[in-house]
Amino acid sequence: MNKISIVGAGRVGETTAQILAQQHLADEVALLDVRKGAAAGSALDICQSAAYFGFDTRVTGGTDAALLTGSDLVIITAGSPRKPGMSRSDVLDVNRKVIDSIVDDVLKYAPDSMLLLVSNPVDVLTWEAWQRTGWDRNRVFGQAGVLDTSRMASFMAEETGLSVQDVHAMVIGGHGDLMVPLTRFSTINGVPASGFLDATAIARINKRTRHGGAEVLKLRQISSAYIAPAAAVATMVDSIVHNRRRVLPCVCVLDGEYGQSNITGGVPAIVGRKGIEKVVELPLSEEEKTGFQASIDSIAADIKTL
Ligand code: LAC
Repeated sequence: MNKISIVGAGRVGETTAQILAQQHLADEVALLDVRKGAAAGSALDICQSAAYFGFDTRVTGGTDAALLTGSDLVIITAGSPRKPGMSRSDVLDVNRKVIDSIVDDVLKYAPDSMLLLVSNPVDVLTWEAWQRTGWDRNRVFGQAGVLDTSRMASFMAEETGLSVQDVHAMVIGGHGDLMVPLTRFSTINGVPASGFLDATAIARINKRTRHGGAEVLKLRQISSAYIAPAAAVATMVDSIVHNRRRVLPCVCVLDGEYGQSNITGGVPAIVGRKGIEKVVELPLSEEEKTGFQASIDSIAADIKTL
């Protein structure tokens, strides 16, 4: 991929830029931020690490939306983060306006790109961006599930004492307290995870996964998570850039899958060069379906307020 732009040079945006550069996932990474100097400063800082990390990716930064020109992919991390005690929906009103104006810039300067939403509430803002672009749904998607599953995998590794590299977790639904961790679809290198965990451990893992972002925010107070979120974004970008066609949980526009239409939600999908190639349907139990529906209903309730 030649050029990837990241709008929002906050902690998630700049950490994402750094990982994309280090992994040479683009020839050029452009960082944008409305705060004067913020993106340019981050870009300079990242460039000055290039000699040590050994990358030639050109990282630029600025405030001018024209920087988006020529982007193959635009990642949106801009917006107001939540403060301790707030839900992700509490920042919807302010972030919707931010996303609308960024999408308008993308339509003007990078009309052939793809859009990856990260700002919260990500399910709702992915919907908003998709509606505003009018693009095919494969080109507009969001990051949430890769982060939520990596949190679940980390807790499963901690509870079992086994390598996190062998843990394959699965989380579906919205990126909120009603997300649905799926132990039944989680394995330790193919062996059902339930064989390694008792019911109380599973309950602990699920609870910590659902509140994974809040746990970090409560500890840090002045910052939400940004290292794992940036790694999650880079994982999606890597699958797109190398056309790996990995099956990753993503925020997708649903068109009949899981019995849902006219809505976004977190589901596993094949991620390749064209973005979301295909939504993968899991054979959910009645209980899992009920949990997924409740999570989707809460996204729908927020979408109604747009
Ligand atoms: C989190 C925020 C960034 O889950 O949504 O950490």
